[in-house]
Amino acid sequence: MFTAVPGRYDLVNRILTLGLDQVWRREAARECLQGFPGRILDLCTGTGDLAVMLRAMAPADAQVVAVDFVAPMLEAASRKAGARGGGIRYVLADAGDLPLRDRSIDCAGIAFGFRNLTYKNPRRAAHLAEIRRVIAPAGRFVVVETSQPDSDLWRACVHAYHRSITGPIGGSLSGHGPAYRYLAASVRSFYRSGEVEAMLLDAGFAGVSSRPLLGGAACMHVAVR
Ligand SMILES: C[S@@+](CC[C@H](N)C(=O)[O-])C[C@H]1O[C@@H](n2cnc3c(N)ncnc32)[C@H](O)[C@@H]1O
Repeated sequence: MFTAVPGRYDLVNRILTLGLDQVWRREAARECLQGFPGRILDLCTGTGDLAVMLRAMAPADAQVVAVDFVAPMLEAASRKAGARGGGIRYVLADAGDLPLRDRSIDCAGIAFGFRNLTYKNPRRAAHLAEIRRVIAPAGRFVVVETSQPDSDLWRACVHAYHRSITGPIGGSLSGHGPAYRYLAASVRSFYRSGEVEAMLLDAGFAGVSSRPLLGGAACMHVAVR
């Protein structure tokens, strides 16, 4: 599905979220960079926006690695970083089989890709175990992802937005209807923040905390290895 979408992926994201996606990625980058990590991983990097922010905000001697399993996404990410001075290592790999040493990463971030790794995904436990494997003790795993507002009224509004805007408008702007129909449906039934916390704790992470964004339409989760 992701092989087809990189062309207008960024533009559609900006339009559908009115630019909030970048605000939230920047917040995720700030969370990642607490504690001055030297080895930083952007998982499911897609077109690489989080990786580019991490590169710009991290100390010059920090290493930034970006991973995705879809080559056209990584190519788009690499072009974007190249235009901004490079300094990011791109790796084509599955999040469930990372070509990285045990405990070799101080902080891993993931922006809007956690849903893909976990929601109705039979490899969910394998993905989370693999991510934990590469993070160093006391290292952080920062997840920014869509979520479910606690308020019934606000949740109904957010779901209505996804049903009537994200799916149809995203589909027609991108030219990839099925991808955006999947996005709109999976976002509406994705887990609540408490379920994500439980999942991370089950995977062996400690000190999991969550912060709602836009009343819970999205959420920032921070887990410590
Ligand atoms: C919704 S996009 C998010 C992209 C980007 N992080 C962002 O902020 O927009 C999800 C990305 O996860 C990648 N992905 C999904 N499952 C993956 C897996 N098992 N291993 C590596 N990448 C994966 C897809 O190729 C896609 O680029």
